[in-house]
Amino acid sequence: MNIFAIESSCDETAAALVQDGVHEISSFLATSRELHEATGGVVPEVAARKQVEFILPVIEQTLEKAKMTKDAIDAIAVTVGPGLIGSLLVGVEAAKTLSLFWQKPLIPVNHLVGHIYANFVDAPKAPEFPALVLIVSGGHTDLVLMRGHGDLEYIGGTIDDAAGEAFDKTARLLGISKYLGGVKLSQLAATCETNLLAGQLPRPKIHDDDFDFSFSGLKTAVRRLYETQKPPVEQVALEFETAVVDVLVTKTMRAAEKLKVKTIMLGGGVSANSRLRRELEAEASIRSLELHVPPLRLCGDNAIYIASAAYFNNKSFPLNKVDADPSLNIDSVL
Ligand code: KG4
Ligand code: ZN
Repeated sequence: MNIFAIESSCDETAAALVQDGVHEISSFLATSRELHEATGGVVPEVAARKQVEFILPVIEQTLEKAKMTKDAIDAIAVTVGPGLIGSLLVGVEAAKTLSLFWQKPLIPVNHLVGHIYANFVDAPKAPEFPALVLIVSGGHTDLVLMRGHGDLEYIGGTIDDAAGEAFDKTARLLGISKYLGGVKLSQLAATCETNLLAGQLPRPKIHDDDFDFSFSGLKTAVRRLYETQKPPVEQVALEFETAVVDVLVTKTMRAAEKLKVKTIMLGGGVSANSRLRRELEAEASIRSLELHVPPLRLCGDNAIYIASAAYFNNKSFPLNKVDADPSLNIDSVL
């Protein structure tokens, strides 16, 4: 089954053609990221306007690369939320139009659920259920129990800033980067041989029994540490990254034990973080848990995992029931 998918939830415009949910046939992606770097944050109207500009060339390029006609396509999939409303609408309307013209069923996909399916694409072994999923992106930090395809239960999540947001805000505060500085902060942290500030930042909620997270207080602690002690910036970056990863890994392991799962999956942009991957790997191995992390090329937003999510959930909707929903929750599975 070949699914043609579109993803346009934020500043990336992506399309992909994927066979049986796991084999990429072709994909193409355009981004307006550079424009947001200049303004130090995404301006929703600017992102939406770029979506309009990019959407048709991205669709055309994906089809051209696939060297297939529309006859080889079995269904269309599209991200319906969460995300920026103006950006989402462009993808949703394009997908509806294709569905109508090509006479193919339309499968709506939750962007967060999509991130999970990055673990299924080209995987040497498909993840087994029940699984605990940690989704860490720019807008979300969610722990989710996945009993099977389409059967998800929200266990906990951030009560303020998302993990990626905390990385980005701290990168800005430390003067590392104005927009999406998570990667650069992490690269800077990796230049340190030892953590000279170990334990100087708080690990918010690490000992709490719940499975919620809170990262907004860390920013203030970083600012205080940086301004009072004036340590090298890379040392602050390392201690910040260690604090976030400590909390994420500790609470994920505790949830896995409580829920008695054998599998852990990671998803979202922050799943590209090497410390997070390394620490999860180490802790999962101690507990004989099977850990699945997405390939690096599928950690960020793309349409490949949207096609995969559509394949494994495979619920098409009539066009008038498919709408963009900027605040869609993870457990309102679509
Ligand atoms: O999932 P994603 O691509 O977009 C959203 O749906 O939000 O996630 C983007 C987030 C940004 O906050 C970015 O800084 C963060 O993921 N990120 C990282 C790394 N790579 C991306 N954070 C820490 N370390 C990384 N290596
Ligand atoms: Zn995302």
